[in-house]
Amino acid sequence: MTLADRKILLIVAGGIAAYKSLELVRRLRERGATVRAVLTRAGAEFVTPLSLGALSGDKVYQSLFDLTDEAEMGHIELSRDADLLVVAPATADLLAKMAGGHADDLASTVLLATDKTVLVAPAMNVRMWEHAATRRNVAALAADGIAFVGPNAGDMACGEFGPGRMAEPAEIVAAIAALLAPAGQALAGRHVLVTSGPTHEPIDPVRYIANRSSGRQGHAIAAAAAAAGARVTLISGPVTIPDPAGVTTIHVETAREMLAAAEAALPADIAICAAAVADWHVVGAGAEKIKKDASGTVPAFELAENPDILATLSRHPGARPRLVVGFAAETSKVVERATAKLARKGCDLVVANDVSPASGVMGGADNTVHLVFPGHVEDWPKMGKTDVARRLVARIAELIEERDS
Ligand code: C5P
Repeated sequence: MTLADRKILLIVAGGIAAYKSLELVRRLRERGATVRAVLTRAGAEFVTPLSLGALSGDKVYQSLFDLTDEAEMGHIELSRDADLLVVAPATADLLAKMAGGHADDLASTVLLATDKTVLVAPAMNVRMWEHAATRRNVAALAADGIAFVGPNAGDMACGEFGPGRMAEPAEIVAAIAALLAPAGQALAGRHVLVTSGPTHEPIDPVRYIANRSSGRQGHAIAAAAAAAGARVTLISGPVTIPDPAGVTTIHVETAREMLAAAEAALPADIAICAAAVADWHVVGAGAEKIKKDASGTVPAFELAENPDILATLSRHPGARPRLVVGFAAETSKVVERATAKLARKGCDLVVANDVSPASGVMGGADNTVHLVFPGHVEDWPKMGKTDVARRLVARIAELIEERDS
C-alpha cells in the first residue's frame, strides 16, 4: 500500500505510548509518506525531538512562540500544508482541548486551525478513558468529524486492564491509508473471496430455515475490496440488496452450495467469510410440500450439521488463501468467544461484533467491531458498515503486505 507523496502532520502528545509513534513514523516513511512532527511539551518527556526528527527526516516543531519556526513555516501553514493530521498518542487532556476548541500551545492551535481531516489515536489510563468527561469529549469530536483509531483493550503500562492502549502502528497506518490512499491501489492484483448474507436451508419446496442477516456488511466489504483494486468473487446467500458494482457475484441458497461455490472460486489470496451460515440443514427435505396433519400431529425434523466454510478454507489442503478472515456475531462475551473461534476455525483473524438486540447491528447500518488476532485485540469505534468495510480492507491489505515481506 503506497502513501507516496502524502503529507502527514503527526502530533505526539505526552503518554507512554509515544514510543510507538517512532515506529509509526518509520512505517509511514517506508510507504513513501512525508512526515512532519509536532511534539507537545509533555510528549518531549517521553520521546526526544532528536529521535523523532531523525526518523521523520525533518525538524520537529515544538513551540507556538518560536520565531525561527514562524519565520520558516507559520503554525497556520503547518496545519494546512498536510494532507492529514494524526494525533498519536492523543491524551485525555489534548482530546479535552480539541473538544473545547482551545489553542494554548502549538499542537492545539494547529488542530484548531486546520482544514484537513484529523485522525486521533487515544492512549490513556482506562479510568480516564471511561470518565464521563472523556466520553463527552470523544462524542463531541466524533460528531465534529474527527476520525478515531483505537484505543484497544489490554494490559496497560499503569498496571490496570481495559480500553486505553494506543492502537498498534500497523493499525494506525491502515486507518491513515483508508482515509487517504487513492482507491485502486491497496489490493491491486489480489483475488479476494467474500461470503455474505444468510443461507436458506429448505424444509420442503416452500419453507426454509433462515436468519436475519442482511448481507450489508459482507457486500460492503466486497465493494471496498473491489474499490481497492482487487478481483472480487462474492458468494451471496439470498439477500434483498443489489450486487455490488465491479464484483463477480455468485448467488447460492444453502450452506452446501456456498461451500461448493467457495471451493470452485479458489485459488484466492484472501478469504473473508462474512456470511451468516446456518449451522444445520433439514435431512431429507424433498420436492413435496409437507402437509398439515388433520389429527394435529406436528412433523419432527431431523437436522444434520452444515459444512463449516470458514474452517474448510482455513484448513484447505492445497489452496488455503494466505489470509483467512472470519466473523463472530455474539450476543455476550464477544471477545472471549471470538478468541475461541479463532483457534477452532484455524483462521488468521476474527472480526467480532455484538449482535445483541440492543446493539441494532443485525440489519442496521452501524457496527462496532473488535479485530481478534492470535495474541492481541484491536477495538474499533462504532461506525457505519461502509466505513468498517473500508477500514477492514485497508487493514487486510496491510496484513497481506506484511506476509509478503
Ligand atoms: O461458528 P460461527 O457460525 O459462530 O462462526 C462464524 C464464522 O464462521 C463466520 O465467519 C461465518 O461466515 C463462518 N461460518 C462458515 N460456515 C459455517 C458456519 C460459520 O463459514 N457453516
